[in-house]
Amino acid sequence: MATSDHMKRLMGASSWIRRMFEEGIELKKQVGEKNVFDFSLGNPITEPPEAFFKAFKELADNPKKGLHRYMPNLGFTSTREKIAQYYSKEFNHNITLNDVILTNGAAGAINVFLKSILDPANEVIVFTPFFAEYRFYIDNHQGRMVVLPCDEDFIPDLKRLEKSINYETVAIILNTPNNPTGKIYPSEFYKKMVEIVRKRSKELNRVIYIISDEPYRKIVYDNKKNPTLFDYYEYSVFVTSHSKDLALAGERIGYLILHPELPSKNELLNAMAFSNRILGYVNAPATMQYLIESLLGESVDISSYQYKRDLLYNALIDAGYDVKKPEGAFYLFVKSPIPDDIKFIQHLKTYNILTVPGVGFGLDGYFRISYAVEDWVVEKSLPFFKQAIENLPL
Ligand SMILES: Cc1ncc(COP(=O)(O)O)c(C=O)c1O
Repeated sequence: MATSDHMKRLMGASSWIRRMFEEGIELKKQVGEKNVFDFSLGNPITEPPEAFFKAFKELADNPKKGLHRYMPNLGFTSTREKIAQYYSKEFNHNITLNDVILTNGAAGAINVFLKSILDPANEVIVFTPFFAEYRFYIDNHQGRMVVLPCDEDFIPDLKRLEKSINYETVAIILNTPNNPTGKIYPSEFYKKMVEIVRKRSKELNRVIYIISDEPYRKIVYDNKKNPTLFDYYEYSVFVTSHSKDLALAGERIGYLILHPELPSKNELLNAMAFSNRILGYVNAPATMQYLIESLLGESVDISSYQYKRDLLYNALIDAGYDVKKPEGAFYLFVKSPIPDDIKFIQHLKTYNILTVPGVGFGLDGYFRISYAVEDWVVEKSLPFFKQAIENLPL
């Protein structure tokens, strides 16, 4: 027995994106890199902005004494202060450094928070389609994931939410702009949702947190604005990272901000510092913490993603696909033209197009296209998407 049965089960449930990625490597060997349209991974294609390399070089030329040592588990005070200042303006709330913890990406932030609030068998609510890793993050801390649907527009079903909140419910995870749908949740939705959560929370006499996972916050199109959950709910936490907006996914830098009026904030902050430590992260990467101090307003060139979104969206609509126009992030979540999404993505593969079935996000009957790819991949693939829908498998 090399691994636990539990781990075998988890790995079995996680295989879709990985499987497509591995099949892609095989296919590329067979037909050549330039003939495969690999839309399977959400890995940022752009390089980090110039300002990042400038700051990096400046630091290398002028080393900062003590920078690379152990530090407080919450992160550098100066970095927490800069983040607090930046988001005080962004959210129009008075955020202080005592609301901020630096983490190993958004993934680290969600894990640290869940570790700090979950007792065994507590429930965390997510909505389909959802970022597949949530299942494992919740399981890491012995929680139970409760999966609820969205409507046709990918807005969470609030009637189902109201019915599902029970004595074990401790958190709800929202993700906006959404992976895989590209949806940005509007303020009206937050208002209605918070009304329900407050009502149930009062009836049950339980605290229910809402985690707003927003690593794509800066990747929005057509000047669309992201509302903030902080305007509506004090038991909310904001999670983000620079994996996507600065294309630093491999550097693992992110953070979590507590609502400044969250009751018992200090207890939670201490628990998160401890979680960061005992999960083995200890602290977020020191060099990256230091560098982002001057990069909080920067981002990769969003227009390069918008170019690909427009090209793909228009071509898919013209070809007869059913897809909602994404408002942010870099994914399209497309209705499968046949009910069986796995069969359809296998059909797409015969045209050397690699995508991920909706079932990988808890919602079958759809497939996801990640357009975090080079332009030529999108441009060259369009006739093949058209052929694929014109020649549906029996
Ligand atoms: C919705 C969502 N949340 C969290 C993450 C994890 O981000 P990070 O790399 O910052 O840990 C991702 C990464 O793809 C994501 O899509």
